[in-house]
Amino acid sequence: MKNIAVLASGNGSNFQAIADAIKKGKLKAHLKLLISDNPEAYCLQRAAKAKVKAFIADRRDFSGRKDFEEQIILKLRSEKIDLIILAGFMRLLSGEFIKKYRGRVVNIHPSLLPVFKGAQAIKDAFDYGAKVSGVTVHFVDEEMDHGPIILQEPLKIKEGWSLEELEKNIHNLEHKIYPRAISLFLKGRLRLEGRKVRILKP
Ligand code: GAR
Repeated sequence: MKNIAVLASGNGSNFQAIADAIKKGKLKAHLKLLISDNPEAYCLQRAAKAKVKAFIADRRDFSGRKDFEEQIILKLRSEKIDLIILAGFMRLLSGEFIKKYRGRVVNIHPSLLPVFKGAQAIKDAFDYGAKVSGVTVHFVDEEMDHGPIILQEPLKIKEGWSLEELEKNIHNLEHKIYPRAISLFLKGRLRLEGRKVRILKP
């Protein structure tokens, strides 16, 4: 079975969805590690409850991004991590980091990329008056919310929804789509072909 690590900065509902999918046997992986750059993040409490080892890499404890990432890499190596899962990890990884792990880092984003990149995608789509939004899972490259798309799922925004309702529906969709995308990776069914990802038949 492959080893996975989740990197998160906040609430960790996607971390939870992944941990739950493993517990239910829907996802076959060892969730070995949660890494957070935020010592206050709620995801750390979720990890404790799920009995997943947690590691805090507080950026303020390091003189530069290089040292910060080196600490993370040491942890990933010591746990023999096969797939790095960004789930609300609000930091851009450096080109050197990506070079080391290209094709082995995935991210989830709450919009249909390439629209509404950034940290407030749900609110941005809501404020824009979009009628459709959705969720994207992609391989990570050097740019923010960018890289070969693995799965995308649209969501119709219903007339009269509040921002909170939209957030709830987007998050529910994320919690379904992320374990699915991870499972495809772990089964060796994702083939990176330049910019594109081909999903191989089972
Ligand atoms: C998720 O909605 C995720 O898509 C988003 O952060 C949230 C984290 O929620 N990521 C981005 O916006 C990346 N640009 P969670 O901590 O409850 O999993």
